[in-house]
Amino acid sequence: MTERLTKIFDEIPRCKVFADIACDHGYIAEAMIKSGKCDIAYVSDISEKSLNKARELLKGYIAEKRVFGFVSDGFHGVPESDVALIAGVGGALTVRILKEAKSLPDKMVLQPMRNATEVRKTLLVLGYAIVKDFTVFADGGFYDIIVTEKGKDFLNGEELEFGRDNVRERPAAFRAKMRVELDKLLSYAERDNVSARSKKQILKRAERYKAYV
Ligand SMILES: C[S@@+](CC[C@H](N)C(=O)[O-])C[C@H]1O[C@@H](n2cnc3c(N)ncnc32)[C@H](O)[C@@H]1O
Repeated sequence: MTERLTKIFDEIPRCKVFADIACDHGYIAEAMIKSGKCDIAYVSDISEKSLNKARELLKGYIAEKRVFGFVSDGFHGVPESDVALIAGVGGALTVRILKEAKSLPDKMVLQPMRNATEVRKTLLVLGYAIVKDFTVFADGGFYDIIVTEKGKDFLNGEELEFGRDNVRERPAAFRAKMRVELDKLLSYAERDNVSARSKKQILKRAERYKAYV
């Protein structure tokens, strides 16, 4: 497994039935079964070609009826699970998948590639509490991992934008990400074609980022 997948795997709680939505390769389901972190795993992907990679990897467990594969858009047609993972897809798609699900598991781990703020907002609206929400550095990039379970919660503006654990604990990976984002903003603000108004807004944003570096 890649570093990113290992960090995601570490956050998945032990469960009876695990579902990996948008599984592609199936590595996480393999690790879940092998480690005994789940009894049964569902692997699903909208693309049959992608799912076939997981089916090939997991064929032994499929024969044992411990893993089941589904070609599906999000949760449609996937039986209910205790814990689900949606990783490696954009935030907008994650939000759509969550909103369109007929039912959602009690616990989920989400790793949106972008727009984590929209994912956080959607989780709160759907009645999920944030258990853990932090940035990791893996395979040369920064990733947000959101661990959530059914319950009531509230996030303030900064927590919605950056993730609660990042705001409260300021982990090294988050500070490094903010440094990168800050440098990008500052060099953008220096461009000749940026209007005075935009520059003011960018610098205002940069000030907020500086607080986390
Ligand atoms: C970049 S891969 C991520 C694979 C894995 N989850 C990971 O984190 O490494 C994205 C996968 O999402 C699948 N996908 C895209 N839209 C989907 C949808 N609406 N429902 C299920 N799978 C989807 C793609 O076919 C692809 O296999």
